[in-house]
Amino acid sequence: MLFFGGDYNPEQWPEQIWPEDVALMRQAGVTIVSLGVFAWSHLEPEEGRFEFGRLDRIMDLLHDGGIRVALATPTASPPPWFTLAHPEGLPVTADGVRLTHGSRDTYCVSAPAYRAAARTIATELAARYARHPALALWHVHNEYGTDCRCDLTASAFRSWLEKRHGDLDALNESWTTAFWSQRYSDWAQIMPPRATQYLPNPAHVLDFRRFLSDELLGAFVEQRDLLREANPAVPITTNFVQGGWVSVDHARWASEVDIVAVDHYPAAVDGRGEAETAFGGDLARGWAGGEWLLMETAPNLIYTPGRMHAKEPGRLTRHSLNYVARGSRGAMYFQWRQPRGGAELFHSALVPHAGPDTPVFREAIGLGRTLKTIAPYAGGEVEARVAIGWDAPSWWALQGGGLPAADIDYLAAVQQTHRALYRSGIPTDFVFPGRTDSGEASRAGDAVGSGGAAWVGGAGLRPYKIVVLTHLFLISDESAAALREFVAAGGHLVVGHLSGIADPAGRIRLGGYPGAFRDVLGVRVVEWRPLAPGTTIALDDGEQGVRWSERVETAGAETVVRYAGDVLAGAPAITRNRFGAGVAWYVSPGLDDDALRRLLERVAAEAGVTPLLPGRPPEVEAVRRGELLFLFNHGSGPAVVALPGSGTNAVTKRAVSESVTVPAGGVMVINMPDREFKSRTG
Ligand code: GLA
Repeated sequence: MLFFGGDYNPEQWPEQIWPEDVALMRQAGVTIVSLGVFAWSHLEPEEGRFEFGRLDRIMDLLHDGGIRVALATPTASPPPWFTLAHPEGLPVTADGVRLTHGSRDTYCVSAPAYRAAARTIATELAARYARHPALALWHVHNEYGTDCRCDLTASAFRSWLEKRHGDLDALNESWTTAFWSQRYSDWAQIMPPRATQYLPNPAHVLDFRRFLSDELLGAFVEQRDLLREANPAVPITTNFVQGGWVSVDHARWASEVDIVAVDHYPAAVDGRGEAETAFGGDLARGWAGGEWLLMETAPNLIYTPGRMHAKEPGRLTRHSLNYVARGSRGAMYFQWRQPRGGAELFHSALVPHAGPDTPVFREAIGLGRTLKTIAPYAGGEVEARVAIGWDAPSWWALQGGGLPAADIDYLAAVQQTHRALYRSGIPTDFVFPGRTDSGEASRAGDAVGSGGAAWVGGAGLRPYKIVVLTHLFLISDESAAALREFVAAGGHLVVGHLSGIADPAGRIRLGGYPGAFRDVLGVRVVEWRPLAPGTTIALDDGEQGVRWSERVETAGAETVVRYAGDVLAGAPAITRNRFGAGVAWYVSPGLDDDALRRLLERVAAEAGVTPLLPGRPPEVEAVRRGELLFLFNHGSGPAVVALPGSGTNAVTKRAVSESVTVPAGGVMVINMPDREFKSRTG
């Protein structure tokens, strides 16, 4: 079964509406709803007094309607009584302001009172519903990521630091506290990063974000374990959210959940929305090492700065199926019914304010039918021969002040690399450096392959012919050594600027950038020359460098492209180095989308990696999952796509061969066995 549904908040509605909700869910083919995400103040109206009557009734009603439930623990939004009883459980900002209730996520994860209250409500829910027949999944909390800088956090941070660094000398060394007289002589002197006079110590900030990730994970694990004890057969997850403000290292969390669930809200409306969707799906699959679940996305209006954007007809279906094609076990939305009031009253829903007689609900009915039809074939794997490195701590390290350029943007850089491969039609995975830096094992069990324990995600680096690193600023010796081995054994490595620069503590690897990869790349970068906004630097292949340039010296590598302007005229810009049986490329300038795509296509051709469906029209995206071939037409006219073999339209059940026409803005799902597909594409 594929999951299809979304957040359902019956506590916002009079009970008379519930039967209509269930009837509409059945009409749309909804299979599952997330229930109770923000229901704490209803379930526990005062400390220790529980009211489960309404939840009992809605669970039973859903069950009678054949709808499964992802039951949430409501711990992301403590009720107002909690604030008054436990003011120390409220979060404090870096400026020292203690927040109060009135929104959501008003808790400090390090406050014992909050943790105890969260355990209590989770225990009550487990005791009552762990064996309810409607329960399919536990949905713990909502989008972990809350930040607090209070004294309770300070004390938890210090304990975490003691475990990580052992003693203060090691911490002082790791944080380079000799700079600006920051040497700590007592653990009690260490605070969470708080408002300070000028630039904070970047290593301090980085460790705090790592701490917060672990601290939040501890809160998740605590709930997970008590839910599991109540009924080990029910899978448990929490919904991951992406964003620069989120101090959660999802690659590390992934092994703690039974299925990786991800909220993804692509906001681009200028034709990049498709690429953003593909990026979110591929990254989620990487975290999961396979199948994952799209837990939330917007059914219609998308938040874009300054103005919401309504989805074009067909986009809901096209994007939802794209997540499924990229490994999701279904498509779920925020939310089922658009609320009458509350902070997100204009956020889109499957049943909008205007009711079910609307384009979005009609499209949902069609989508529900399609998901049901393809469900029996949709459990396969997505294969890729190219992987991009992703590292949350590198992102965090590149968010501080004091960097060489204000427009350094980790997410944008990684997305651009993914977009280039996406536009070339080359399937792409993500891989993650293991956290061997602190002596901890990385994701035990699945950290194999030529990457050893130093790279995780899928099967380490073993399945890949090409690995691309973009802004992977921090790297441990072990992870760098694994990449060296990968190249020596015949792999193709592409390293862009700002990768391999520092150790996991953020200390620069000396002797020339990128210190972790100088030998494998055969280059030495002696000077960074960030470009002023809006300026470019000419390259001798006719392309332009954007945002960034560097003075590169070769030390064994051949120069493929040279700078052709500024003081760098004639100096190497893009290099290629044979290393063992493999090849390592260094790309020092920033490139625009087309130039990056052409370069990666050249690397792919050399490595023998081909697009999934060579010769497809450019507006058509092809994704293969198991034996299903998904064709997405993002264009405004019908597209004729030549097929590599014959198969069956998985929705209409009609035989297809030679070519098919995918309608404008439409999707076609074809069941094509490997023998048909592989015989023509290799
Ligand atoms: C998140 C939350 C939801 C809702 C949506 C709005 O994903 O989990 O509760 O606020 O954002 O986009």
